[in-house]
Amino acid sequence: MSKDLLMDSKLNENSSTQRQIFSFAKINIGLRIIRKRPDGYHDLETIFQEISVSDRITCLSNSNSIAEIRIFTNNPQCPASQKNLAFQAADLLRKFTGEKKGCDIIIDKKIPVGAGLGGGSSNAASVLVSLNKLWDCNLANSELVKLASQIGSDVPFFVVGGCALGRGRGEILTPIKNRLKYWGLLISPSAIISTKWVYENLNFDLTKRGKMSKFDGFIQIDFEEWQNNIQNDLENVVFRKHQEFQAIKEKLYSSRAFYAQMSGSGSSLYGLFVKRDDALAAQKLFKEYKTFIFKPRYV
Ligand code: C5P
Repeated sequence: MSKDLLMDSKLNENSSTQRQIFSFAKINIGLRIIRKRPDGYHDLETIFQEISVSDRITCLSNSNSIAEIRIFTNNPQCPASQKNLAFQAADLLRKFTGEKKGCDIIIDKKIPVGAGLGGGSSNAASVLVSLNKLWDCNLANSELVKLASQIGSDVPFFVVGGCALGRGRGEILTPIKNRLKYWGLLISPSAIISTKWVYENLNFDLTKRGKMSKFDGFIQIDFEEWQNNIQNDLENVVFRKHQEFQAIKEKLYSSRAFYAQMSGSGSSLYGLFVKRDDALAAQKLFKEYKTFIFKPRYV
């Protein structure tokens, strides 16, 4: 089957050979680096919040003799190869369960790539969840979360979804029950930022300050206090190299955002607004960037 045929096919219904699901992005609300670990990773604390910006993933099971895992995508920045975390998810699930079938994974990409929105990690989690059903693996969610942590630090969050406190590398998750209502404006500069580069260039002196010590209390803080209490330690590293990011953040604050921050290791920034109309008005001031209006998603 050609790539175009796959992308165009009307695959609206789930069946015994195909599953189609939305694969949502996340933002980080605050990110605090705790320490560098002996394994090279960093222990951190962050709030992961799933948002209403998504890719669409279709998994088609195939039992032909080659039993390949193939990736099809409409975004050239998203690798259609073994480098894709979605490929790694399918491969890992197959090795773990002994499944012999192959699959075609079609990624209809909307989430900006390399943007701190977890698009690749979300796709990997979506593939684990879909193929677990399609291949009748019957793994419990807790087992999928363990497999997810082998693929990347953010992948377990996307198996769980909603809002959660992440600790450790980001893979130790505590769901945070809340239904906070706000509107978000996502600004996506074209820069693709390597997460590895950001962590390698962390300056621990700059990350020490007296901000909030426990993010899980953030839902008790009034919106207007978020700005003084929650911060992303990775901003320093990225803002030093990309000076326009500071200007974007300031412009979000001056256009009525109650909170503005870079998501994860960048490059996306977001502003949060009490009123949808304010988010829409702010969006008009960022015409030179790719932008999205979003809402938080809760499970
Ligand atoms: O886990 P993931 O593959 O997404 O991480 C990409 C890179 O980011 C890692 O190789 C590591 O250098 C860095 N990282 C880190 N501490 C974390 C998460 C990521 O140092 N908690």
